[in-house]
Parts: sequence; C-alpha cells; structure tokens
Amino acid sequence: PLDEYDDCWLRYDRVGDDAPRESYRRRCLHAYVSTGAPELAAVRDELRRGIGGILGREPHLWQHPPRSVDGFLAVGTPEEMEVVADSVDTDAVAELADGGFHLRATEWEGSPVLVVTAPTDRGLVYGTFALLRRLALGRPIDDLDRFEEPATPDRVIDHWDNPFRRSVERGYAGPSLIDVGELPALRDRYEEYARLLSSVGINGVVLNNVNTEIPSRPSANAAMDAFAGWQLLATDRLDDLAPLASVFRRYGVRLYLSVNFGAPETLGGLDTADPTDPAVEEWWAEKADEVYERIPDFGGFLVKADSEGQPGPYDYGADHVDGANVLARALAPHSGRVWWRAFVYGSHADRAVQQYETFAPLDGAFHDAVTLQVKNGPIDFQPREPVSPVFGQLPETDLGLELQITGEYTGQHVHACYHVPMWKEVLEFDTDPEGVGGGEGDGDGTRVKDLLRGPGSGIAGVGAPGEDPSWTGHYLAQANLYGFGRLAWDPDLSTEAITDEWTGQTFGTGPTVAEPVTDVLHESWPAVIDYTTGGLGLLHMMYNGEARLENHYDPAPEEWPGYTGASADGIGVDRNARGNGYAQQYPEAIAARYDDPETCPEELLLFFHHLAWDRELADGRTVVQTLYDNCFRGVARAERLRERWRDLDGRIDDRRFRHVAERLEEQVLQARRWRDSLVDFFYDHSGIPDEDCRVPRT
Ligand code: GCU
Repeated sequence: PLDEYDDCWLRYDRVGDDAPRESYRRRCLHAYVSTGAPELAAVRDELRRGIGGILGREPHLWQHPPRSVDGFLAVGTPEEMEVVADSVDTDAVAELADGGFHLRATEWEGSPVLVVTAPTDRGLVYGTFALLRRLALGRPIDDLDRFEEPATPDRVIDHWDNPFRRSVERGYAGPSLIDVGELPALRDRYEEYARLLSSVGINGVVLNNVNTEIPSRPSANAAMDAFAGWQLLATDRLDDLAPLASVFRRYGVRLYLSVNFGAPETLGGLDTADPTDPAVEEWWAEKADEVYERIPDFGGFLVKADSEGQPGPYDYGADHVDGANVLARALAPHSGRVWWRAFVYGSHADRAVQQYETFAPLDGAFHDAVTLQVKNGPIDFQPREPVSPVFGQLPETDLGLELQITGEYTGQHVHACYHVPMWKEVLEFDTDPEGVGGGEGDGDGTRVKDLLRGPGSGIAGVGAPGEDPSWTGHYLAQANLYGFGRLAWDPDLSTEAITDEWTGQTFGTGPTVAEPVTDVLHESWPAVIDYTTGGLGLLHMMYNGEARLENHYDPAPEEWPGYTGASADGIGVDRNARGNGYAQQYPEAIAARYDDPETCPEELLLFFHHLAWDRELADGRTVVQTLYDNCFRGVARAERLRERWRDLDGRIDDRRFRHVAERLEEQVLQARRWRDSLVDFFYDHSGIPDEDCRVPRT
C-alpha cells in the first residue's frame, strides 16, 4: 500500500455493531482460494486487505477446504474447486458473460460456506470486490444468492495523458500517473490504481491522449501539451509497456493505446498514411502483430481523426470507414478493437449537426472490430446537453458511449459536481419513444443504455486521475470515477444506489455522515448548471483562451456568441426547423418534441430555440427573468453545499473535511462570479431589469 495515496472507496474501515459481524466472521475469516492464475494472487491480496480492515483480522488462507473450522469463504471456478462445483448451479455460472460472477451463501459438509465463483479468473476478481463492498457497507450475506454480469463488454477509461511530459490534458489532479520510462519503480502505484479500476468493473485503460500530436502537424490543442503519444507505438516503447500490461492484467484490466492516424508516415517512414494504400495496410498489420507479441491481451487502438488538427482519412480523400477499417483488419485477428471517435468537427458553423451528418451515411459499413465512440452530447461535455442523435440511429454500427469523468466544464475539481445524475439522464434517454425500431428496451423504445449491451459496444470515460494523493484533485470527484465504473457495469443502477455505495465505503454508513455527503453530491450538478448556464440549455459560456488554468473554467459569456445566440431581441440558437435543422436529425417523435418551444423540455429550451427575452414560459415568468432566477438559485445551491458539508465537522477525518470545506468555500465565491457575469450579460443584451431588483447590479 502507498501511504500517501488515498484509499478512496477501498478504505475497508472496521464495520460497526449494526453490521452482521458474526456471520462475516464465520464465513470470511477462513478462506480457501484457488491458486494459479495471476488474478488469484490479486484476490488473495484483496481479501487480506479487505477482511483485515473490515473485521480487524486478516483471513486465514487455505490451500484446501478447511474441515476443522466453523465456516469459510471459497473463491474459485467450478472447474478448479470441487467445493464450488458442489455448491452452485454450474450451468448457470458457465453462462455468465466474461467478467460475470456468482455469490452464494450455502452449506458444505454441514458448515456455512460463502462461495465466490465465476466462469473466468477475471470474474473472480470482480466477485471478490463485490463481496468486500457488501461487507464494507454492512449488508447481510447469509442469504446471498446473486448472479451479476457486466452490461457491456468493454468499460474503458481514456487517459488524456501526455507521456514523457507527464501532463494531462483536462486533468485536474496533478501530473500523469503513468511514467513510461519508470515502470518497475512505479509498480505499487499502478497496482493501487488497477485495484481502484477493477473494484468498480473497469476493464480497460487507454494510456495516452487522443491528441497524439505529431511534430509536423501541431493540433488545435498544442497549448494543451498534446505531445508525443504516438511514439508509444514505436517498437522499443512497446517493450516498455509489456510489464505495465502485466500489472494491470492481474486485475482484469487491459491496455489500449491512442494512435495517430499518420503513424505509418511519422513512425513507419512511409510516404503516405492513405488507408487504401496496401503498404499502409501492411504497416498497420505488422504493427498490430508487434503489439500482440508483447501484450497478448492488448485491447486495441483509440483514434481521433480529422478533428481539431489531427490527421485522418480525409487527408487522403478517403472516408471514416476506410480509416477505421484498415486498423480493424489489423487488430481483428488478435481480437483487438478500434475505438473510432465520432468527435469529428471542423467544417461546420454549428458543431452540433456534424456528427450525425458524418456518420449516419456510414452505418453498416464499419468492420465488426470497430466501435464508434460517441460523446454523450453533440457539442462537447457541457454541463447539460441533449443526447447525441447518433444514438439509436445507426442500428448497424457498434456504439461506445463516451462520458467525461474529469470535470472539464463543470468546475475542474475546484467545484464539486457529481456527474452520475447527468450520466443517468443520458443512459435512460429513450432514443425511440414510439418503438418504431422494434426496440431492445423495456417496451417503450430503446434507451441509450440498451444500445450498449451487445458485443462490440462499450462505455468510455475520459479520465480524471492523476498523481495528487486524492487521485482526483477533489475528494468528492472520486465519486465520479466510482460512479462511472458502476454505471458502465450496470447502467440500471440508480443514482441513489451508487451514492449510497460510494458514500458508505468512503465516509461511513451512519446517517449523520451519509446524509450530508449525499445531499452535497445530489445538489452539486443542479448548482453548477444553474450558475454556469442559467439552466435553460445555454452552453459554452466558459472562457476558451489558451491560459491553461482558466480555459473552460472562468465565465466568459461574450466569447462565443454563436453558442449563446444572444442579441437585443432574444437569446438561444435555432437548432430547429427554422434554423439549422439539428432537431430534425432525431427520429420524428423526438424531433417534434424539441422543435416546438411549447413541448421542448425547459432545461434544453435555448439549446433548440432563439426566444425573445420577454417570452413567457410555462410558469408565467419570462425567459430573462428565469435566467436571472436560476443564476441566483445556483449560488443559493452552492451556499447550501457549503453549509451542509459543515455538518460533517468532527464526524469525518479532519483532512478530508477541511479539503472539501475549503473547496466549497471557493465554489461559493466562483458561483457568485459566474452569476454576476451571466446576469450582467443577460441584462446588457436584453435591457430588462430583474423583477426583484438584483439586476442591474449596482
Ligand atoms: C474537448 C477538450 C479537448 C479535447 C477534445 C476531444 O474539446 O476541450 O481538450 O481534445 O474535447 O474530445 O478530443
């Protein structure tokens, strides 16, 4: 264990009297764990730490079923362990998807036994973490009979780390965790990190930034240190990566690399990277062979092409199918995948319309080993956006949902902002409310989460962790990493269930602690939406300059007029039939709902419509008055976060209490700044004062 790093939700604090400690002791203080695979060593280590913490005594580990004791824990596959085969429905276990597991409390030769089993060793790791989570939360185990499997096969964290420089694009937790030159020395840290990921079911890590800038082609994000990641594909670098891959493998986590589309030229010395050129095809195939020789379970390549200055198939007169498929053909023989990002933009006045226009015509043409990775919204990780119209409308394409774990536009880990409710909103969005697509959903159409279940689909989260001892820069931002993994594993989980789990494991289960933490988390996103956008669907009111710390952080509503549409007559953007037709990209029922300001959900109103400042909304208030009120409400909410957190004084450790308290203090100040900047902006354009005389500000 690394003393200086926080244990996050793997604290394994001693459980209190309200937990069924007696049955925990009986069933867990002796453990018979099968041996062999590297994953099983991880299971044993975790049991020592977990049970050792929760019960105050490490379990005794056996090489055979202990007959002399009054109960034990058995961890293994049915093939390897007779006691397991005797205790479970082996057919049902065999049918579980990769990563799935079964927990069962039963009796064996007259004594209580708790079984953790799975068809694969990876599943045993997840099952062990799931059991320890139950114990840490003080939940009963005597009637356990639970089958779990991941909803989607690939649950990947995308690091935007710039290797060699150790900087992290949009990272707010210090330097990169990954130091490619220093693998052996950092083994412990990688192991701690892999534990965190694995404990929530994340099974893949993209090590480097999607902006893998090449020297001859500085990207639009040059100021972000986007740098040199492409070099990781060089043969000697791949040699360096192999040991890192084996650390992660113990925890069921596979490595991926983000690659530059121009690599055949920059790295391979070819005179083109044209995906239709046979020499390029061969180069990628050989490169893939090289990677798999060193890392047999390598996950695949992530590609950002033709976007923000990155090279791509358009440079060669080819299209995104040509581009993705040449990589897919290289990886498919090794069971690897290409994650091809749909975040392609540059040619359109309003970015919102571009993705669907680019990718809808390509539906059905991608190779089976391609996953199209689509951001949740059509713009860019704003505090709130509509769900991208790509979801549900490319039935022949495997989709990966891309979410942002890091808080780029939500306060950059200075502000608390819990993303789980936002992600739930996305996952539950019904892409086919009329059920015309024949839906795989629950009868009323196909929700985003239903689109992610099949083979080839997945979820990617743009990472947050860095070298800061808290891993995420803000202790409360750990909840986003936790929630991302849990939702990727099971998108049916409710926000409340995830909050309970995280809070219970991180701060404790008693109501005097859990309730304030929960209140703070649950009110944080609504607060951020209110004061950074005014709550009616406006976006991109953040500063977009080059000074790193302020970029996408500080208020600058005047900066991108195209995004707010503010003028003397009104505010908002006509992304509707009267305007650029973005709303019409959705299936008819959704398009109709968004296209009419009367039926468009209020929280997205100005995203879809340019409306007069004095237009009345459903409750009789005008647009501008509602914007004012929401900005003030945002500050009130931020103040409530701060007050509510104070209730924890003396009830949690001082370090975490003070760290969060100080940040919430700053959040209140920043919220006021945001409010003032936005209300001035609304007033300057509308000339309409606030009914409550708060604006104009004197
Ligand atoms: C955002 C972010 C960039 C990043 C881009 C992407 O625009 O600000 O830093 O490069 O997303 O997703 O590729």
